[in-house]
Amino acid sequence: MEFVSLTFFSFFSFLLLLQPRLLLSQQAYVDNKQLNCENPSNNNITQGFSCTGPLTSCRAYVTFRPTAVYNSLVTVAYLLNSQPYISEMTSINNLTDLEHPPPDTLVIAPVDCACTSSSPSYYQHNASYVLQSVSDTYFLLANDTYQGLSTCQALIAENPYSAVNLSVGMNLTVPVRCACPTANQSSAGAKYLLTYLVTWGDSISAIAKMFGVSEKSVLDANELTVTSVIYPFTPILVPLSTEPTKIETASPPASPPEAPSVPAGGNSGSSKKWVFVGVGVGGGGLAVALVALALWFFCYNPQKRKQSKSSGLTPKKFSDTSATDHASLAVKGGSFSGFSSGIREAIDTLTVYTFQDLQIATGFFSKGNKIKGSVYRGKFKNDDAAVKVLKGDVSGEINILRQINHANIVRLSGFCVHEGNTYLVYEYAENGSLSDWLHSKKFESYSVLSWKQRVQVAYHIADALNYLHNYTNPPYVHKNLKTSNVLLDANFRAMVANFGLARAVEDSDEEGGLQMTRHVVGTQGYMAPEYIENGVITPKLDVFAFGVVMLELLSGREAAGDTKNGEELLSAAIKRVLDGDSVRENLRGFIDPSLKDEYPLDLAFSMAELAKRCVSNDLNARPQMAEVFMTLSKTLSSSLDWDPSDEFDRSQSMSHGQ
Ligand SMILES: *[C@@H]1O[C@H](CO)[C@@H](O)[C@H](O)[C@H]1NC(C)=O
Ligand SMILES: *[C@@H]1O[C@H](CO)[C@@H](O)[C@H](O)[C@H]1NC(C)=O
Ligand SMILES: *[C@@H]1O[C@H](CO)[C@@H](O)[C@H](O)[C@H]1NC(C)=O
Ligand SMILES: *[C@@H]1O[C@H](CO)[C@@H](O)[C@H](O)[C@H]1NC(C)=O
Ligand SMILES: *[C@@H]1O[C@H](CO)[C@@H](O)[C@H](O)[C@H]1NC(C)=O
Ligand SMILES: *[C@@H]1O[C@H](CO)[C@@H](O)[C@H](O)[C@H]1NC(C)=O
Ligand SMILES: *[C@@H]1O[C@H](CO)[C@@H](O)[C@H](O)[C@H]1NC(C)=O
Repeated sequence: MEFVSLTFFSFFSFLLLLQPRLLLSQQAYVDNKQLNCENPSNNNITQGFSCTGPLTSCRAYVTFRPTAVYNSLVTVAYLLNSQPYISEMTSINNLTDLEHPPPDTLVIAPVDCACTSSSPSYYQHNASYVLQSVSDTYFLLANDTYQGLSTCQALIAENPYSAVNLSVGMNLTVPVRCACPTANQSSAGAKYLLTYLVTWGDSISAIAKMFGVSEKSVLDANELTVTSVIYPFTPILVPLSTEPTKIETASPPASPPEAPSVPAGGNSGSSKKWVFVGVGVGGGGLAVALVALALWFFCYNPQKRKQSKSSGLTPKKFSDTSATDHASLAVKGGSFSGFSSGIREAIDTLTVYTFQDLQIATGFFSKGNKIKGSVYRGKFKNDDAAVKVLKGDVSGEINILRQINHANIVRLSGFCVHEGNTYLVYEYAENGSLSDWLHSKKFESYSVLSWKQRVQVAYHIADALNYLHNYTNPPYVHKNLKTSNVLLDANFRAMVANFGLARAVEDSDEEGGLQMTRHVVGTQGYMAPEYIENGVITPKLDVFAFGVVMLELLSGREAAGDTKNGEELLSAAIKRVLDGDSVRENLRGFIDPSLKDEYPLDLAFSMAELAKRCVSNDLNARPQMAEVFMTLSKTLSSSLDWDPSDEFDRSQSMSHGQ
C-alpha cells in the first residue's frame, strides 16, 4: 500500500514541476498552497484574492455543493452568510428555499465582497461559523465544511484563537474567498466574479463552458495557462458579464479516483489544451515522508482522517484514535445548533411557503389584516392562519414547535424565509389573546369570560405546560408564559403561543444541575424571583408564571397592574389576601367584579390557594406542573357540575363552617 501511494506521490510531484507560471496580474491561482497550514504567512495567495480592482466592494458569487447538512438554499445561505439574498438564490438556482437539490447540484450564492482594511489587502466576504464538533479544525473547516471557499491560513489570520485552542461553541469569522473585477476585466465586459470550486474531473474548458464564458477569460482571471494544473477543492475565478443562472452540471462529478484523473481535454479539440486535475501537496521536501503518509491516509482511510483530532493545521495526528469515538458521535449526533438544524429538520414536518404565497394570503401584509404587532391574518386555501414576521434566527421556536403536537399549544403549520426575515404561519386563534379578554374592558366586543371558561382556560394551559415539562424529549421550559401569549380559538380552547424564549432543560440530575443564564428577559410580574436574581432556569419558572396567569383569571387584574402608582404585583397581592384574617371577604374583594357573584367561592378559594403556592418565592415550595394539572382537573370537573343558582346556599354553608 505504501509503495503504491509513494508512487502516486512521485507522480503528483512530477505534475507540480510541470506547471509554468505566467504572471498576468489578475488573481493568482491558489495552487494547492492552502494545504500548507503551517506557514500561514508564506503565501499571500492563501489569504485571499488581492484587491487589484478599482472597486473596494462589489457583489460577487460563490458556489457550493450541497451536503447532508447544508442541503437546502436556506442552510447554504446560512453557512455562507448570504441570507439577505435568499430570494435571489431561489431564482438563480431555480429551487425553493428548503428543497433538497440533488447532491451533484452546484448551488450559487450571492455575497457582498469587500476589500478588507488590513494590509496587504484582500477581498473577502465574512461568514461566521460556530464550532460544532471537537474534531473541527481550521483545515477541516476551510476544506471540508466550506469546501475550499476559505483557507486555513486565512482563518488563522482572521481569528484570535490559536489552532490548538479551538473548542466547541467558538464563533469564528470565516473569510470567504471572492473578488471584484479588475479594470481590465471590466473593460472586457465582466461585471461579476464567481468563485467556482474545482472538483474531481474538472478542466478549465469545462468550467468555462458550464458558465458560458470563454476559456481564455477564465485562464486569464486566474493567471493560468492551458498547461496549468488545477486541483480539487481550490477556488477558480470565473468572470461573468451577467448574473449567473442555474448551472446544469453536465455529468455528476466522479467520486475521488485513486489516481488523478486526466480529463480528455477541452472541447476545443486541441489536445494540447489540457488542464489537469491532480492532487498536489504544498510544503517542502522536509515534509515528504509525512506527506506520503498523509496521502496514503487520505486515499485509503478517509473515515479515520475525518475523525482524527488534528491540531487544526494540516491533518497529521492520524494516530490519535482515543478521541475518535467521541468526535464521530458529535458529528453523527447532529450537534449542529442554531438556525441550520431547526430549519433543516423542519422541512419534513412543515409547509414551506414562498414569500408570494404569504403576500397573497395576507393581502400584501395590509393594514386591514394586521392583528397586532408583527402578526397578520392570512387566508390559505380558505383556512385562516396567523402570519408572524420575525427578524433573525428563529430556529429555536421552529425547532420546538415542529416536534410538538398538543391541542393546547399553538400549531406551527409552516414558514418562509425571505430577505432576512422569517415568517411563521400558525393556526388561527379566532378569539385572540387571553389578555384581551381579561383586560381590554374598553372593547365592548369582549364579553366577560364565565367562571367555567376561566377554569377551562387554566386547565388547558396547565395541560400544555405539563406536556412541555414532562412529555417532550427533551423537556422544555416555556419561559415566557403570560396572558398575552395564551390564545383562544373559536370555542375558547386555550393555546400557549410564542416559544421564542423557550428552552430545553437537561434531564435534571437533582443535585447541582441548575441551568443559569445571565441574559434575563421576561415580563414584569411573571418572572420568578430566582430567575430575576440569579438567572436560574427550571420548569418552576413556568409554574410561577402560571400561578400569575391563574391570579389574572381569578381577579381580572393585570400581573403588574399599576405598580407605578404603588399597586403591588398580583403574586404579592394574593399572599395578603389569603394570609389575612377575613379570608373569605378578602377573596371576594379580589375576584374579578365582572364575574358578579357567578362563581363558586369554595372552588375559587382552592384555585387561589393553588395559585398562591405556584407563586411562592421559594421554588421548592412551588408544586410541580403535574400536580397543578391534576388539581385543576378536579376544579374543572367540579366547576362543570356547578350551577350558579347553588351559590347562595353554598356560600352560606361555607360561612357557617368557619
Ligand atoms: C505578503 O504579505 C506580506 C505581509 O504579510 C507583505 O510584506 C508582502 O509584501 C506580501 N507579498 C506580496 C507579494 O504581496
Ligand atoms: C426550474 O425547475 C422546474 C422544475 O423544477 C423546471 O420545470 C423549469 O424548467 C426550471 N427552470 C429553469 C429556468 O431551469
Ligand atoms: C470581516 O471581519 C473582519 C474582522 O473579523 C473585519 O476586519 C473586516 O473588515 C470584515 N470584512 C468585511 C468585508 O466585512
Ligand atoms: C478536502 O475536502 C474534500 C471534500 O470534503 C475531501 O474529499 C478531501 O479529501 C479534503 N482534502 C484534504 C486534503 O483533506
Ligand atoms: C489558549 O487559551 C488559553 C485561555 O484562553 C490561553 O491562556 C492560552 O494562551 C491559549 N493558547 C494559545 C497557544 O493561544
Ligand atoms: C458570530 O459572530 C458574528 C459576527 O461577529 C455574528 O453576526 C453572529 O451572530 C455570531 N453567531 C453566533 C451564533 O453567535
Ligand atoms: C490590461 O489590458 C491592456 C490592454 O488590453 C494590457 O496592455 C494590460 O497589460 C492589461 N493589464 C493587466 C493588469 O492585465
